[in-house]
Amino acid sequence: MKVRKAVIPAAGLGTRMLPATKTVPKELLPLVDKPVIQYIIEEAVASGIEDILIITNRAKSAMDDYFDYYPELENRLIKDGKLEEAAEVRRSADLANIFYVRQKETNGLGHAVYRAKRFVGDEPFAVLLGDDIMMSKTPVLRQLIDTAEEYHASTVGVQLVSDKAITKYSSVLFENVKDRVMRVLDVNEKPTLDKKFSNYAILGRYVLTPGVFDALEHTPPGHNGEIQLTDGLQLLCHRENMMAVDFEGKRYDTGNLKGFLEATVDFALADPKVGPWIADFIKQKAEKLN
Ligand code: G1P
Repeated sequence: MKVRKAVIPAAGLGTRMLPATKTVPKELLPLVDKPVIQYIIEEAVASGIEDILIITNRAKSAMDDYFDYYPELENRLIKDGKLEEAAEVRRSADLANIFYVRQKETNGLGHAVYRAKRFVGDEPFAVLLGDDIMMSKTPVLRQLIDTAEEYHASTVGVQLVSDKAITKYSSVLFENVKDRVMRVLDVNEKPTLDKKFSNYAILGRYVLTPGVFDALEHTPPGHNGEIQLTDGLQLLCHRENMMAVDFEGKRYDTGNLKGFLEATVDFALADPKVGPWIADFIKQKAEKLN
C-alpha cells in the first residue's frame, strides 16, 4: 500500500476568523511569512505525497493564483538582485502537482471529501485539514502513512484533549495495539460529554482507503445537518480495519484566533530569520507586564 495522493478540504467559510476572512481565504492568512496552506502542503510533500487535490469554493480563487507562477514579479525580483525572494516565489508554485475541484455547496466535511472520488480512484489517500497545523520532528502525515502501510488499513491521527475540547472535535473508541498505535472500534462527531468514547480526538490527519466513498454515500446528514466525515468513518471502521496513531508533535488549531496567535508566536520563535529577535521582544514585553 503506497500513499501518493492527498486531499485538502479548503471550502469552509472561515466564520471563526472574521473580519479578516471576509475576502481573504483563511488558508492564505500568513503564519510568519507563508500562508497557512503552504505548511500543510509542505507536510504532505515531506511525507511522500506527489499529487494534491484542494477542495475549494467560489470565494477561494486566490489560492490557485498563489500556487501558480508569477513571471512579472519573479523577473522584477531577479532584475533587482533579490534572487532568494525570486526562488521562494517560484518554489511555492513547484511544491507538488496541485489540482482543484470546487465544493459547489457548503454541506459538511464528508461532502467535501466525497468530491475527491474521481481524483483518488482506487488507491489509499491522505486527508489534511487546513486548520490543523503541526510542528513535529517527523511529519505527522508520515507517522500515519507508516502505520497505514504496516496494517494495510485506514489510519486517523489522534491526541488526548480536554473534556471541553472533545465536544468540539470527534472521539475515538479504541483498543491498544502497541506504543502509540490503536485499533479504532468506533468514532463519533462532536460528542456531548456523556456520549464521548474517550478523550482521544481525531485531529486533522487521515489516511483513508477508497472504501470511504461508499461509506459516505451511505452516510446521512449528521451534526449541523451536514454530511460529516466522522460519520462516514464510523461506517468504514465497522466494515474494514481502521487504525489510529497518537502522533508525536504539537498541533495548532489555526481556524480560531487564539490557536492562530499561538501558532504565530511558536513558528516565529522556531524561524531562524526572526526567532532570536522575537524571543528578545517577548522577554522585554514580559518584564514590563510583571
Ligand atoms: C473537524 C472534524 C472533527 C475533527 C476536527 C479537528 O471539525 O469534523 O472530527 O476532530 O476537525 O481536526 P471542525 O473543526 O471542522 O468543526
